[in-house]
Amino acid sequence: MPKTTDVNRQLVLVKRPTGMADGDTVGMRNTWVPAPGPGEALARVRFLSIDPAIRTWMADTPGDLPPIEVGDVVRSAGVAEIVGSNSERYRPGDLVFGMTGWQDYVIADEADRAMRVLPPGIEPTAPLGVLGINGLTAYFGMLDVGRVSAGAVVVVSGAAGATGSIAGQIARIKGAAKVIGIAGGPDKCKWIVDDLGFDEAIDYRAGGLETALQAAAPQGIDLYYDNVGGSILDACLANLAHGARVVLCGFISGYNATEPITGPANYPMLIFRSATMAGFEIQNYADRYASAQADIVQWIAAGRLKSAEHVIDGLERAPDALNLLFSGANTGKLVVRI
Ligand SMILES: NC(=O)c1ccc[n+]([C@@H]2O[C@H](COP(=O)([O-])OP(=O)(O)OC[C@H]3O[C@@H](n4cnc5c(N)ncnc54)[C@H](OP(=O)(O)O)[C@@H]3O)[C@@H](O)[C@H]2O)c1
Repeated sequence: MPKTTDVNRQLVLVKRPTGMADGDTVGMRNTWVPAPGPGEALARVRFLSIDPAIRTWMADTPGDLPPIEVGDVVRSAGVAEIVGSNSERYRPGDLVFGMTGWQDYVIADEADRAMRVLPPGIEPTAPLGVLGINGLTAYFGMLDVGRVSAGAVVVVSGAAGATGSIAGQIARIKGAAKVIGIAGGPDKCKWIVDDLGFDEAIDYRAGGLETALQAAAPQGIDLYYDNVGGSILDACLANLAHGARVVLCGFISGYNATEPITGPANYPMLIFRSATMAGFEIQNYADRYASAQADIVQWIAAGRLKSAEHVIDGLERAPDALNLLFSGANTGKLVVRI
């Protein structure tokens, strides 16, 4: 077990960013490794989940969770290994999943029910991606909010990302007539078609998105799963089929905005196509995570659901890793390995 004279590196929020997080946003602070009290264990953080939500928590605006306070460790999900324990619940060597934050060590308190011990045999990063928030968000967004049906023409944006790549495959598993992914660049487009089984991919960076959508979905889009917002949402609204559903999962194109975000110009199409648009937060489905994970595990085992990870090494690189989500440099789930 590390000594309390060993250093715990922590990345703390120094200044709320304007636009993309930069060198002034997050700073490294060295503290001592905390000593676990009664009912607590000390855990060494091994993997951090790099999520677009972290950028939203850095801002002083309403979101799914309160903003990170300036001076606090950057909030983040992660997987950590128990290295010392005064708790019956955690044994040295156990891997735990929870809100570890961007730091080397975290205290696992047995009263914190959100910190869970991983069952043996599970890939340590799976609870961060395909079996975690991204897989669950894709599952409930596609099935409960989108109510995907056999025969539907489905479009997913952010389709080569952690959530979008799973959402598109779930639509395929459920018998969609056509699954069209929107992604940035030819490599991502090739990956989602050749490896993940999307029927078609559109590179939005090539321009002409609205026309490309018309060609790919001449009868219109029955279900649009939106991870991006902005002009991509508008292009999809322009191509809706009668009775379409639009699932608002995220609006990553707006997370670094320095001006107020304007609404979609093509929203009247919801009227003209008798369509509906609904947002959701994954936390609403917490009581159903276990059954969704059971389905996801089954699909993976049957070779019907694939996932990719993009691993960056080093705690100190977490702030740069966060920005990769916005430049689109990641394919699949982005994690930092410490
Ligand atoms: N509702 C919920 O409860 C919930 C839960 C989890 C995640 N989410 C949302 O789901 C979305 C995906 O999150 P994720 O963790 O899976 O991230 P991700 O898709 O793995 O990574 C983000 C991707 O977004 C694309 N992107 C970034 N900026 C863009 C822009 N301006 N225009 C178009 N595409 C852009 C990039 O891909 P390209 O190279 O293709 O541009 C990038 O790789 C986010 O909006 C996130 O907030 C929602």
